[in-house]
Amino acid sequence: MNTPIAYRPGHRISRISRVARRLPLLTAVLPLLMGLAACAEAPQPLADVDYSGWRQSTSAVLNFPVPGHGPGLRRIFVNDAGFETGLAEDGSISYPTGTIFVKEVYGGPDPAPGADPAMLTVMIKAPGDPRSRGGWIWVVRNPESGEETVFDEEFCVTCHANANEEHPYGTGNTGERFRDYVFHTPALEASAP
Ligand code: HEC
Repeated sequence: MNTPIAYRPGHRISRISRVARRLPLLTAVLPLLMGLAACAEAPQPLADVDYSGWRQSTSAVLNFPVPGHGPGLRRIFVNDAGFETGLAEDGSISYPTGTIFVKEVYGGPDPAPGADPAMLTVMIKAPGDPRSRGGWIWVVRNPESGEETVFDEEFCVTCHANANEEHPYGTGNTGERFRDYVFHTPALEASAP
């Protein structure tokens, strides 16, 4: 085997495309890698969901800068599975498999009415999926091109672990209860539909 990077079944595509970006000089290997990535990415987008009928997880207007998501306006939508999940007796919360949070991120803090979001950041509860971290698949989707990136390393989950401790957002989790990596808990923050 002379090839430095061989495809192995089960090797995650997101990793292959990252490797491809890091090794631009391996011209002999790149076309093979890119072909594989293209085949695997096309058929099954993860976050191509119609969230137009979903409710917002918080009634707060999120137009102040936050680490990780920048200074643009954010609007967070959650499907019924997540919206209807209540707190356990001890004040903690665990969302069922199939819960999806879609966060729209706009280019600026005060977008024109009807403007499209620049980006969607998405959490999909799927603890059995090998790409999940902390029980969630973390996806960034370009709503225009449909391009998606799955973050299966530390970046998203590490910062979101702060939601399980006291933090400066929403109701703040001052009691330090497990909040399942979600900062804005619909059971506490959403206004009645
Ligand atoms: C440095 C911290 C940080 C990082 C990194 C980060 N986030 Fe967040 N995220 C937040 C904060 C703070 C909020 C609260 C909502 C707001 O004000 O935007 C949030 C909210 C969200 C929400 C709405 C659910 C909730 O927690 O209320 C989603 C979905 C989301 N982030 C996805 C992602 C994805 C996907 C990534 C990785 C690409 C990511 N985040 C990386 C800090 C972070």
